[in-house]
Amino acid sequence: MTGRATARASANIALVKYWGKRDPQLNLPARGSFSVTLAGLTTTTTVTVLGNDGEDQFVLNGEVADAGVLKKAKRVLDPLRNRAGTRAAFQVSSTNDFPTGAGLASSASGLAALAVATAGALGLDLDATELSRVARVGSGSACRSLFGGYVEWLAGEQADGADSYAVPRFDADWWDLRVVVAVVAPGKKAVNSTDGMTHTKDTSPFHEPFLATVDGDLIAAKAAVEGRDLAALGRVAERSSLRMHAAMQGADPALVYLAPESWVVITAVRKLQAAGVPVFFTADAGPNIKVFTTPDAQETVRAALLDLPVVRRLVAARPGGAAERIE
Ligand code: PMV
Repeated sequence: MTGRATARASANIALVKYWGKRDPQLNLPARGSFSVTLAGLTTTTTVTVLGNDGEDQFVLNGEVADAGVLKKAKRVLDPLRNRAGTRAAFQVSSTNDFPTGAGLASSASGLAALAVATAGALGLDLDATELSRVARVGSGSACRSLFGGYVEWLAGEQADGADSYAVPRFDADWWDLRVVVAVVAPGKKAVNSTDGMTHTKDTSPFHEPFLATVDGDLIAAKAAVEGRDLAALGRVAERSSLRMHAAMQGADPALVYLAPESWVVITAVRKLQAAGVPVFFTADAGPNIKVFTTPDAQETVRAALLDLPVVRRLVAARPGGAAERIE
């Protein structure tokens, strides 16, 4: 069997955070989450089915990928290989147009693009919901990148994960928000999110209290997007992010993903808010800060962030479309 397909998927940023698994093997989350898929932060992946049963090969950004990347990829490749009833190996070539491993969710776009390209290369006809489940096993947040716009990942209850997949809630053009990622440290994060989640669950007295806030935040965040209410969305997104970080920092030993530079950016966002600028921040498992604003305020926000010596560069994004096969 031979085949080849190329797919593209965009990163997503959670407005209501996912941090905790009810099943680490299948990446089943303890609670739901809600994100926006971003045009401008994309992974393009080509999968070629090799006509033998050797080892999978994975090239990431032009270099042979490390064991961790390959391990995650296999969680998508193996189930699809089984479904197609083949033992053929894959050659995967994947390119990100943004920094890998810096809290910019490259695993989300990467595993989503991999699921679409692999299914395509194998000639499997799977709908986006099914591909969302497949991508989820590779990296939880990847299930949200199958869809464009504002997306909810349903936690589900079933042990096999059949009811844990992403659902698009609002199209990308429902609300034209702007995102400015303030890159303060382009390096890889120290503790990957899977290890970080397990450690937080096992040792942080604040993990359960964080989880208890998620269902209410999901309702509030969806209402804010429906009403295109930036102040309301900012309030939910900031508290969800900071409560997630509180849970991480309550772990023993503490997990600290935010750097002093992150707080400089957060403080600047707070100042803009105090001056009446529509803007809010969120941060994931890394030091870079994602800043949300409106098209009208974008230039003001960019100028303020560029003024900060800690900001190495800004990456611009806006709500974008679904993962797609492009070749
Ligand atoms: O899906 P993972 O393992 O990349 O975990 C992502 C976790 C956060 O980015 C910190 C939060 C989220 O909901 O995306």
